[in-house]
Amino acid sequence: MPREILVTSALPYANGRIHLGHIVEHVQTDIWVRAMRMAGHTLHYVCADDAHGTSIMLRAEKEGITPEALIDRVWQEHTADLRDFGIGHDHYSSTHTPANREITYSIWRALEANGHVESKPVKQLFDPERQMFLPDRFIKGECPVCHARDQYGDACEVCGSTYNPIDLINPYSVVSGAKPVEKESLHFFVKLADFETLLKAWLEQRRAVGGLQAEVVNKLKEWFADGLRSWDVSRDAPYFGFEIPGQPGKYFYVWVDAPIGYLAAFRELCESGTKPGLTPADYARFTRADSDTEMVHFIGKDILYFHTLFWPAMLHGANLRMPTAVNVHGFLTVDGAKMSKSRGTFVNARTYLDHLDADWLRYYLATMLGPTLADIDLDLKAFEERVNSHLVGKWVNIASRCAGFVQKLFDGKLADTLPQAERARYDAAAAKLEACAALYEARDYAAAMRVIIEVADEANAYVAEHAPWTMAKDESKRAELHVVLTLALNYFRLLTIWLTPVVPATARRAFDFLGDTPARFDAGRTPLLGHAIQPFKALATRIDPKQITAMIEASKESLHATPASGSQPVASAASPNEAPATAAPAHSTIISIDDFAKLDLRIGKVIVCEAVDGSDKLLRFELDAGELGKRQIFSGIKAAYPEPARLVGRSVVFIANLAPRKMRFGVSEGMILSAGTGGNDLFLLDADPGAQAGAAVK
Ligand code: MSP
Ligand code: ZN
Repeated sequence: MPREILVTSALPYANGRIHLGHIVEHVQTDIWVRAMRMAGHTLHYVCADDAHGTSIMLRAEKEGITPEALIDRVWQEHTADLRDFGIGHDHYSSTHTPANREITYSIWRALEANGHVESKPVKQLFDPERQMFLPDRFIKGECPVCHARDQYGDACEVCGSTYNPIDLINPYSVVSGAKPVEKESLHFFVKLADFETLLKAWLEQRRAVGGLQAEVVNKLKEWFADGLRSWDVSRDAPYFGFEIPGQPGKYFYVWVDAPIGYLAAFRELCESGTKPGLTPADYARFTRADSDTEMVHFIGKDILYFHTLFWPAMLHGANLRMPTAVNVHGFLTVDGAKMSKSRGTFVNARTYLDHLDADWLRYYLATMLGPTLADIDLDLKAFEERVNSHLVGKWVNIASRCAGFVQKLFDGKLADTLPQAERARYDAAAAKLEACAALYEARDYAAAMRVIIEVADEANAYVAEHAPWTMAKDESKRAELHVVLTLALNYFRLLTIWLTPVVPATARRAFDFLGDTPARFDAGRTPLLGHAIQPFKALATRIDPKQITAMIEASKESLHATPASGSQPVASAASPNEAPATAAPAHSTIISIDDFAKLDLRIGKVIVCEAVDGSDKLLRFELDAGELGKRQIFSGIKAAYPEPARLVGRSVVFIANLAPRKMRFGVSEGMILSAGTGGNDLFLLDADPGAQAGAAVK
């Protein structure tokens, strides 16, 4: 039975670039959408930028532009990045649209009419200088438990305690540096407890049909056990968002209108007339409480609460349909660790695309993605090896080894029939691959990829066994050769059909070569026979490890490439929910531990040290930097060290992640630290014996 499904990925915040973590989610969703379509279902895939909230307001202010100008620019960047990763949204909108405002207002009015809204005064920290209430993430101070300095208002990153921002010692506003004061204000709440019975029933029902993962159900049950508290849905001006109707100066919290953005994006799609078969009336048909269509959300594990409690409650409270599934994935790690700007493993989508093919990452991620909340590791070595061995070695190579003979000896045409034994082989492979349909649907892409690679191995064994390159030398074996090439290319076509959801761009090139346009998996049931193929053009190239290194290097540099921000350093903090876009206290001498952590300080052993011809200040160093390799650094300390050769063999401390600088004499790849005022008053730092080349200085 063909199904009709509205699918979403979580809406990326409009205050930063799309990074590989977002790509995990969009690739997971996109593969699902493409695979379900190829299985014969009708899917509508929408997403949008999440454009509201304090972070976006402050970032725009800092850049000296309006929030509207900021979100427009970011929208351009986001849509280009996602498009170039092959993500096929039917519509990518923004939460800052008339449609979203309208739907938000109507849901709000329904919640009010149904008695689910209450208001009460709330005491909160207020920045008296900037005249604004401060979200927890915009307050820092000393941890009341372990006394670590510069901890956020909600939790200490050093000892892990959580607390109320009011309990911080010497708190300061991240926005202005001022000491916050307590202030009272009226807030609006949605009474979540009203929905407890309903949510429990929804949970059981969804669990029964596989719409919620077991781990998610357990998490939800814990929350139920704690009791459902009312949800604070209002924020005071200044705020970038939708004003609450009839409450001047009060705005909807960004998390109210964000998921409503799913519906607004879909309504815009229905009303745009751009998708064949979709009309304005479909919006009502998909969203009414008794709709027989499906609504499936893909999200990361950090935003579970919003999607499995608040969102279904809001929908139901407004007499709308609830989600049929919330599919939750884990977080991306790189080489086994959290993405890190200093290690260059916090990679933006665009930086990846500057160096590598989108389909390669899509394939690697597919081999790692399963239906659980487990984190997904991008092991850079495994990425290189798997892409080269599987995609190039086992898949593309079938075509590249066989195509030439078909052109040269058979006029570009495949054989008209396959003998029984070959046809049986083909049918068996086709039947085996059909298992992938269910695996795709269950989001067990890793298992689907294993089936595909097994069949690819069979295909390669067949080709190796019949060695068409040898057979081609024997004119008496032409008919036999034609069969071998025809079966081999049909294996290739079958594999391509089943890989299409994962590597759509490469698959399209492969089908151009085959002169075929299969839109559905079941096209694999019949082989291509008596069919003309096109001359073979390279479909894909192997990954050169240098491309990966260059991507990591560029990701390190992009840290320094962030626009200069006056005299104040930019704080790093990437909180999943409300990450400050600005930062740093006004007292500019204080930096946070995060700021310090951005410096990659290392021990270097001096291999070469010499005067530089044509410069009276500089010495040229070559350092052994251990795991970082060799570094050339120019340092202006000649006056203090007139006999540079004597420095060979000693260790120095240097900044390893400073953007490389082109100088007249060569590129300087870092900075060596010394103490003093300059001239001959300069003293290199040393390390006690035992410190290894490349050791981190912390
Ligand atoms: N704007 C909210 C979502 C609103 S949905 C109505 C948000 N934005 S986000 O940009 O921080 O994250 C968007 C999605 O990307 C979330 O599902 C989040 O889990 C996912 N990821 C962000 N970083 C990630 C990784 N490192 N790894 C995998 N997914 C991650 O939350
Ligand atoms: Zn602490």
